[in-house]
Amino acid sequence: MRNKVSIIGAGMTGSTTAHWLADKEIADIVLVDIVEGMPQGKALDLQEALPIVGKDLRLVGSNAYEATADSDIIVVTAGLARKPGMSRDDLLFANADIVRNAAQETIRYSPNAIFVILTNPLDVMAYLAQKVAGVPSNRVVGQAGVLDSARMRAFVSLELGISVENIHCYVLGGHGDEMVPLTRASNVAGIPLEEILPPDRLAAIVERTRKGGGEIVNLLKSGSAYYAPAAAVTQMVDAILKDRHMILPAAAYLNGEYGLKDIFFGVPAQLGRNGVEKIFEYTLSQDEMAALQKSAAGVAENIAKLKV
Ligand code: NAI
Ligand code: 2OP
Repeated sequence: MRNKVSIIGAGMTGSTTAHWLADKEIADIVLVDIVEGMPQGKALDLQEALPIVGKDLRLVGSNAYEATADSDIIVVTAGLARKPGMSRDDLLFANADIVRNAAQETIRYSPNAIFVILTNPLDVMAYLAQKVAGVPSNRVVGQAGVLDSARMRAFVSLELGISVENIHCYVLGGHGDEMVPLTRASNVAGIPLEEILPPDRLAAIVERTRKGGGEIVNLLKSGSAYYAPAAAVTQMVDAILKDRHMILPAAAYLNGEYGLKDIFFGVPAQLGRNGVEKIFEYTLSQDEMAALQKSAAGVAENIAKLKV
């Protein structure tokens, strides 16, 4: 039997995730959205592309959660995206209602599923989904770090003219402007970033990474990024379904790691068939730890506002 991935929210990130996932041919895919006809139309359109690209899988679009039954993975992208001038936190209450409903409905039909959350504000929505679904914390993970690290890798690659495959960057913390690009642990083919880039160029890349989401929002004017976020979700789904034991920066539940408790937060998380298998801890400098704590305080403040 093939794996099954259901994507709640068939908008820009949801449908683009379906596109990247279909190309990997690793699961049947269900798209669910509240807009009548839209998930059905997108699923059918993608299904009709498969003979051209030579992939065999089933795509279904629906407005009802029954279609998600027995999913291995539930990806939650449903919610509002920010507009220019808005922060991710401005989406808190509206998206909390949407994510709460998605978690309640999907867990009824797929009691063993692993949740990959994308909806913003990301770390808080991952926390909410885990509490509402009532599943063990290893079965919920939020996507932020893969995207933020990929942005940093892209900027370093463009700056140096070196293949993205040689560039390893690690961005931790909450998915907001206080995220923590770990320059000390980042490298180009093993050469520390701090040795290969002059300080002012490195500082500019760190700043651009932190503001990477906003840069796209300002360019698009309506809606936010979707190609890179969807590629990031796809890498996480692939790591889980293929039981790759892959360490990726992702929002995972912390119970004392990095000195933080009862929070979903961006850390290096090992992903496999059981979801989050292990969290890895860097030995951080005082400055890095302080930056991480500042970022965590913002996430904790928003979690408290939700009164989950
Ligand atoms: P979009 O507006 O294109 O799609 C959202 C979809 O959710 C819409 O089709 C809408 O009809 C649907 N929806 C709304 N309420 C729903 C409900 N109750 N049940 C099912 N579907 C529902 O937005 P986009 O660009 O796909 O972004 C979605 C979310 O993902 C936003 O909150 C955005 O901020 C977040 N995001 C997070 C990223 C991350 O790295 N964590 C990156 C990019 C986006
Ligand atoms: C991003 O970073 C909007 O969170 C989204 O592009």
